[in-house]
Amino acid sequence: MEKSLILVKPDGVERGLTGTILSRLEELGLKLVAIRMLHADKELAERHYAVHRDKPFFNDLVNYITSSPIVAAVFEGEDVVNRIRKACGATDPAKSEKGTIRGDFGLDIGRNTIHASDSPETAAIEVDTFFAGGDICQYTRMR
Ligand code: RTP
Ligand code: MG
Repeated sequence: MEKSLILVKPDGVERGLTGTILSRLEELGLKLVAIRMLHADKELAERHYAVHRDKPFFNDLVNYITSSPIVAAVFEGEDVVNRIRKACGATDPAKSEKGTIRGDFGLDIGRNTIHASDSPETAAIEVDTFFAGGDICQYTRMR
């Protein structure tokens, strides 16, 4: 079954939005299969954002995501990657629609509250970055 990795970013955790964000995703009928809170170090952050290594915002991104604790979670479900991306809204909160997580809570393009995998292939790599195989739980999600 398809998986997606999400991170509640420091601005989400610090403003007490973790539960709200997880609820929004659970309310889509998606199955939460792993969760942990951590304070990412530079090495982990650089690995997670390796695809952006050459971008001008890379250092800011790594500094931000390591500035305070984050919550990493894995959701599972049909078309989960696209469904979560839709629920997140556009990268820049100024351009995300109301009713999306970033549209409702994002502060600016850096402090945009949530990360979500952008493809099933990326998700598989990102899940492995934050979780060991044994951390992924199996159960039946009731409606
Ligand atoms: P994410 O990876 O966090 O889910 O966000 P995304 O796919 O919507 O955006 P992506 O292009 O992967 O960028 C990763 C994060 O980098 C920050 N960013 N800053 N200053 C800028 O122009 C800029 N562009 C991107 C954002 O925090 C974005 O979430
Ligand atoms: Mg991305």
